[in-house]
Amino acid sequence: MPSTPRTSVPAALASSGAADGRVPAPPILEVVDVHLSYGTVAALDGTTLSVREGEWVGVSGPSGSGKSTLLGLLAALEHPDRGEVRFRGADLARKRRLDRYRRLDVGLVFQLHNLIPHLDARANVEIAMLGTHLSRTARHRRAGELLDAVDLASLAGRRPAEMSGGERQRVAIARALANRPAVLLADEPTGSLDPASAANVVDVFTRLHRSEGTTIVMVTHDAAVATAADRVVVLEAGRIHPAPPPPAATAPASAADAAPAPAERRTG
Ligand SMILES: Nc1ncnc2c1ncn2[C@@H]1O[C@H](COP(=O)(O)OP(=O)(O)OP(=O)(O)O)[C@@H](O)[C@H]1O
Ligand SMILES: [Mg+2]
Repeated sequence: MPSTPRTSVPAALASSGAADGRVPAPPILEVVDVHLSYGTVAALDGTTLSVREGEWVGVSGPSGSGKSTLLGLLAALEHPDRGEVRFRGADLARKRRLDRYRRLDVGLVFQLHNLIPHLDARANVEIAMLGTHLSRTARHRRAGELLDAVDLASLAGRRPAEMSGGERQRVAIARALANRPAVLLADEPTGSLDPASAANVVDVFTRLHRSEGTTIVMVTHDAAVATAADRVVVLEAGRIHPAPPPPAATAPASAADAAPAPAERRTG
């Protein structure tokens, strides 16, 4: 996993805040007063959120409240009309190699796995590493290791149609991790699964978060995920509710750095 000190902050440190006297981890992702409309629909309407290195943040809220739009912004698949989205302090709008950010810094897992049907599990993971410096042999080996990490080593040769929904979703997680992203973005990854498969998938995220300190932002309605995450924020009509307090003189530099809003629940 990432080798720099900023990306290897242990989850326990990141989620503990300053309450125990330790310095909280710095923010890795910041959404600052973002507005984004599709025609007349204001999908995000003044959204502010800060995610620390190594933190697992759940995002819940009613259908149409802007959750997927928020994730799209964090993945740089969407761009705000107003406001800023920052990765390690840098405004994504000013980033030169956004393609690199999309491909290497973030990993994406969606509700439907989006695996390529005619490729087996291993090839589906390998494909994420095309265009990197890794040799074919190295890609092959790493795909095997990733499938092993999500307990699918024995199914590496199966195509998506020959796997269960939960197994496919774990292949999708392995694929999202292929390039050692600093952040894993997941949009209802357990939404299409039965409870047992969903529990397996949550378990994979939990292990990753604990052992690798991977930062996770996950849209979910799943109570098990809400329990596993460090905190859950609620989006309503394009805003995190209630809004974080405005920055005070003694507060951190930006509103996004402010303490979690009352609606945010810390579980870990
Ligand atoms: N490409 C688009 N074109 C037009 N409107 C869109 C588009 N994408 C999203 N919207 C609208 O923006 C709003 C927010 O959508 P979004 O998909 O972010 O909601 P959501 O919270 O993810 O909902 P769900 O829980 O149903 O997935 C909705 O009103 C939706 O209809
Ligand atoms: Mg959605």
